[in-house]
Amino acid sequence: MSEERSPGDLTKQQTADISEAQIAVHWPEEDYFSPPNAFIAQANLTDAAVFQRFSLDKFPECFKEFADLLDWYKYWETTLDTSNPPFWRWFVGGTINACYNCVDRHLARHRNKTAIHFVPEPENEAIQHLTYQELFVRVNEFAALLREACGLKTGDRVTLHMPMVAELPITMLACARLGVIHSQVFSGFSGKACADRVSDSESRVLITMDAYYRAGKLLDHKEKADTAVDEAAKDGHKVDKVLIWQRHPGRYSSAAKLVQGRDVIVNDLLRDFRGTRVDPVQMPAEAPLFLMYTSGTTGRPKGCQHSTGGYLAYVTWTSRNIQDIHPEDVYWCMADIGWITGHSYIVYGPLALAASSVVYEGVPTHPDAGRPWRIAEDLGVNIFHTSPTAIRALRREGPEEPAKYHHRFKHMTTVGEPIEPAVWKWYHSAVGKGEAVIVDTWWQTENGGFLCSTVPGLAKMKPGSAGPGIPGIHPVIYDDDGKELPAGSGRAGNICIRNPWPGSFQTIWKDPERYVRQYYARYCKNPKSKDWRDWPYMAGDGAVQAADGYYRILGRIDDVINVAGHRLGTKEIESAALVVAEVVEAAVVPVADEIKGKVPDLYVALKPGLAASAEIANRVSAAVVSGIGAIARPRRVIIVPDMPKTRSGKIMRRVLAAISNRQDPGDVSTLANPEVVDRIRELAK
Ligand code: PRX
Repeated sequence: MSEERSPGDLTKQQTADISEAQIAVHWPEEDYFSPPNAFIAQANLTDAAVFQRFSLDKFPECFKEFADLLDWYKYWETTLDTSNPPFWRWFVGGTINACYNCVDRHLARHRNKTAIHFVPEPENEAIQHLTYQELFVRVNEFAALLREACGLKTGDRVTLHMPMVAELPITMLACARLGVIHSQVFSGFSGKACADRVSDSESRVLITMDAYYRAGKLLDHKEKADTAVDEAAKDGHKVDKVLIWQRHPGRYSSAAKLVQGRDVIVNDLLRDFRGTRVDPVQMPAEAPLFLMYTSGTTGRPKGCQHSTGGYLAYVTWTSRNIQDIHPEDVYWCMADIGWITGHSYIVYGPLALAASSVVYEGVPTHPDAGRPWRIAEDLGVNIFHTSPTAIRALRREGPEEPAKYHHRFKHMTTVGEPIEPAVWKWYHSAVGKGEAVIVDTWWQTENGGFLCSTVPGLAKMKPGSAGPGIPGIHPVIYDDDGKELPAGSGRAGNICIRNPWPGSFQTIWKDPERYVRQYYARYCKNPKSKDWRDWPYMAGDGAVQAADGYYRILGRIDDVINVAGHRLGTKEIESAALVVAEVVEAAVVPVADEIKGKVPDLYVALKPGLAASAEIANRVSAAVVSGIGAIARPRRVIIVPDMPKTRSGKIMRRVLAAISNRQDPGDVSTLANPEVVDRIRELAK
């Protein structure tokens, strides 16, 4: 690692003045672990020739193998259309329905098999096991309701603000059946955050649930829908209908009043559609399936638009070959469907393969850190998927818990953040009992599915490193000057993907220019070129590649921080803080955290003459929670007399980050106000 460049060298265009990659902790290279023979003996993919099949000279036709896992109404004519780069179009001419592929096509063989195990957070509430037949019936009835009672049709957008309940995949699949574009907003986001997404997507219908359980409490959720509708109205956008599922059917569990003419209790209205069937709409492969909003470098989240055919093909192939899902597996991804991981690897991928997928409502450590292992034991879960933050929390709160239960995992995934080798090893030995293969999967909301990971039946695992590009994905690391770093150099740079792939998002909703600028402009070799080779995709992460070809991801190089695996824009947090009347300036910096990976520290300066107080700090924190959600709550709000600034007046976040991370801020003598640094250090103690 000695010749490694500091990720601090990344910077310049499109990069933050302090980034996660810059504060990344470097750990030494680890020894390999071999996948257990018992795993290899049953694995879906053990043919090492897969990498030749997916070499760049076989591109793009190699991706036929992905699409062939699906049922098409009409087979496509063109595998990849590159006529308008970088707006790639996959499987052009094909028609398909995602709901049909996840539900209807399994009925012949798997009608009575569980599609979804819904595990309520209260442990005394029975687990629900929804068979594929029941899923079929419920999806059809709800699709009929959407079409008949709400007038929704192909191409309309609908915002979902739903918790982790079986009704969420039912709602998504009903939309997919009609070709209605769903936009699910993480239930932990505030009503205001939901409103931004409702108005950007121009959703006339908002679908929510009255309440849900979280950490032992039944939270009122419907009240957030009221805020969302009101806030969207301020933005000039009217919501016509709010559909409300009941957490306990037949009982309304919210204190918020129903608004006459607007609010509808789904469980009541559904009675009118009992037994109704809705033909799946035959959608063009490139029709959008859903929007997933994510944080970027501006104050407003952007809607990543995912396709139907390419996306579904990508998540199905990767679920089969990287997750090693067989139809007889019981698969549990403990992410939230409000994030891309849940879309791809709780709903669409596993259901396309006719697996049984677990949907767990609550927090992993409720009522104690043994809960996940009890669930796994009870349901016979054999594939488990979670984030480093969850693993760290379970390890801290119950290091001995997994040994008390008889669950047996053949396969485990980690996703969303870098995982420290020590945490990886606990996951391997304690949770996996040394019997499970582990994949560390690196990818992003924009990508649809995994980009880097080992192929579990083929490659050794290396704690702390994701792995090489998966078959069909060809990563490359560029330096700031656009030069490729030699393969395996161990030097830090910007990780990019050389080639398009079917799971990639198609554009940013209503902002195609930003799509080009943010992901493709920087390393584009020729903006006029129609050759995909000239358009590498820039992920926005710092990474190093070791001599063995494995990539280690350092973190974001832009104004995004990854808090407990949740992606937040520093600008979004700063904008939320500036809502407080006393605040004139706000600056957010990432701070390394033992459990959550990174957390935000929020520095604010007040209007002249105002005195700092805990009361103001609390209000700033509350403003962030109501503007975004509790996940964005700053670790600390530090009120400073002035921000450290350059002579041209730019806030030096780098200095603030050094203070928060207990690092040396370096030479500050060139600042316009160097004297403020010691003062801030005192305040941030
Ligand atoms: O910084 C990378 C980190 O999470 C970011 C993407 O966040 P999001 O779009 O919310 O998607 C998360 C789940 C797919 C990336 O830019 N990240 C994701 N996976 C890993 C990771 N960092 C290190 N190792 C990973 N396995």
